[in-house]
Amino acid sequence: MPYCRMCGSGTVIAYLPYAKMSLCQKCFLEFYVRRVKNTVEEFKMFREDDVVGVAVSGGKDSSALIHSLSKAFPKLELKALHINLGIPEYSDHCESRVRLLVKSLDIELYVFDVKKRLGFTIEDFMKTRFKRKICSICGTIKRHIFEEMALEANVRVLATGHNLDDIASVMLNTFFNGNWSQLTRIKPLLPPLAENMAYKVKPLIRSPEKENLLYCLYGELPIRSLGCPHASQTGIRKYMQLLERFSEEDPGFKYIILNRFLELIPMIENVFPKPELTRCRLCNFPSTNEICSYCKRILLVKQKDASA
Ligand code: AMP
Ligand code: FES
Ligand code: ZN
Repeated sequence: MPYCRMCGSGTVIAYLPYAKMSLCQKCFLEFYVRRVKNTVEEFKMFREDDVVGVAVSGGKDSSALIHSLSKAFPKLELKALHINLGIPEYSDHCESRVRLLVKSLDIELYVFDVKKRLGFTIEDFMKTRFKRKICSICGTIKRHIFEEMALEANVRVLATGHNLDDIASVMLNTFFNGNWSQLTRIKPLLPPLAENMAYKVKPLIRSPEKENLLYCLYGELPIRSLGCPHASQTGIRKYMQLLERFSEEDPGFKYIILNRFLELIPMIENVFPKPELTRCRLCNFPSTNEICSYCKRILLVKQKDASA
């Protein structure tokens, strides 16, 4: 019978195969928080006197993120940022979970209601040529809104819940597709796109997806129980499955991928210099084009509305 590696108790709840380590509930929660703290310090993501905005979706990753940050850095000022995307049933459910969580942590919450603020919802893209790419549209829209919310909430740093599996699968995808420019997006610490904008950080870059879920379950955090109806099983999912298969052979495989790519990124950035940024003519945010991809998508959905 396994015993907890940390305290020796016999009530083990988690086995971490890459470290050949069994842990009891209390030691697992402590181990998880310590790893988040170490990751923040390793990549110098922020200082304890910063104000950090955390993008909280209601899912397991970002819920585990904001909770563990509040435990790892008790003096840090955290603000929760949530986007209500207007997806029927799903979005209100997510928002209600986020409200419960931040209330229990006594953290200020900022909600950006897409329908109220922009006059459309993510659902409206179903009427456009992007109807099979809702997830990727949603990603573009959210990235822009995060920047706006960071300005409104006056935070210098914006943390998201991207986990080890997300990052390692994007890295594999990049390798197989040669889409090197997207590698910069998944760096653990991204400098601001322009003055006054926020640093982006990913404190869960070393936290496997399964452990984020375990943290939420054993920490009894309120997380969403509904899945997004637009979640697609293609694209990046293929690489996640590949990662799982390799991990069965070598439980440390995701960490190997992550570490090798972290070494490679500076070299890749040297070979592929950053694209020149100008300002979007419509929203004035930094962009590689005259009109940024966010504004292009919004124009499209508004045109469809007008022609309906
Ligand atoms: P995703 O792109 O859905 O995998 O989400 C990546 C990260 O973005 C999450 O871990 C959250 O930190 C953040 N995020 C995603 N959706 C939302 C949302 N609706 N509101 C706030 N943050 C979100
Ligand atoms: Fe954006 Fe599902 S949450 S499409
Ligand atoms: Zn724009």
